[in-house]
Amino acid sequence: MVLEVEQFMCRSDNFGVLVRDRESGATAIIDAPEEAPILAAIERTGWRPNALLITHHHHDHVEANEALKRRFGLTIYGPAAEAEKIPGIDRKLSEGDEVAFGAESFTVIETPGHTAGHISYHFPKSQLLFSADTLFALGCGRLFEGTPAMMRNSLEKLMALPLDTKVHCGHEYTLSNAAFALSVDPTNEELKARAKLFEKLRAEGKPTLPTTIADELATNPFLRWHDPVIRKNIGMEEASDDEVFAEIRKRKDNF
Ligand SMILES: [Fe+2]
Repeated sequence: MVLEVEQFMCRSDNFGVLVRDRESGATAIIDAPEEAPILAAIERTGWRPNALLITHHHHDHVEANEALKRRFGLTIYGPAAEAEKIPGIDRKLSEGDEVAFGAESFTVIETPGHTAGHISYHFPKSQLLFSADTLFALGCGRLFEGTPAMMRNSLEKLMALPLDTKVHCGHEYTLSNAAFALSVDPTNEELKARAKLFEKLRAEGKPTLPTTIADELATNPFLRWHDPVIRKNIGMEEASDDEVFAEIRKRKDNF
């Protein structure tokens, strides 16, 4: 892997992440949920950040933007579509933009639905995806600014990435997502096994992330609108993909 990754908790359930290119030392922070734990991670690793990659405008992803910029003089990247809501933004990104990062580069995937301008960051050589509040382990983000069809389309883009892509998400929501996933897909053996594993990890105080595209394809109900068993379980065998996705999302909102 070209990049090394440091993952840690911020606030109550947000993930903070640093990624560093081994060769050049270039270091990026993914989202800025809270200053103190990010500074602690920088201290612990000795990595000096020169970039901050923002996925969307929500407060728990941009709170430390200005403090980090003042301290490190770093370049803040973020979605062009909601740039006016991203404090300190320097570079506005859109679908397909490719930005050099040491021996790596990252590609921007527009993934609207949770917010209207949400983007995800893909580092193809290291096979890393930062999907923030679009794709979670066993879940997906709430639809604050988008429609179910918009979110399903966003998730479909992420589903097309290589199967062993490691996925880092914005929050540690996996256990509650697992409980919901089992409610619509209770006979999925792989899902049951993952839910068990996640319970053990959380009981030990360990994170459940990263996940992988392959694991999510097999167990995440928000990527399985086509699955005949789930469709049967929710009584929507003949419905369209968007209808099934919308129903699963609605059930999760009320779970
Ligand atoms: Fe969010």
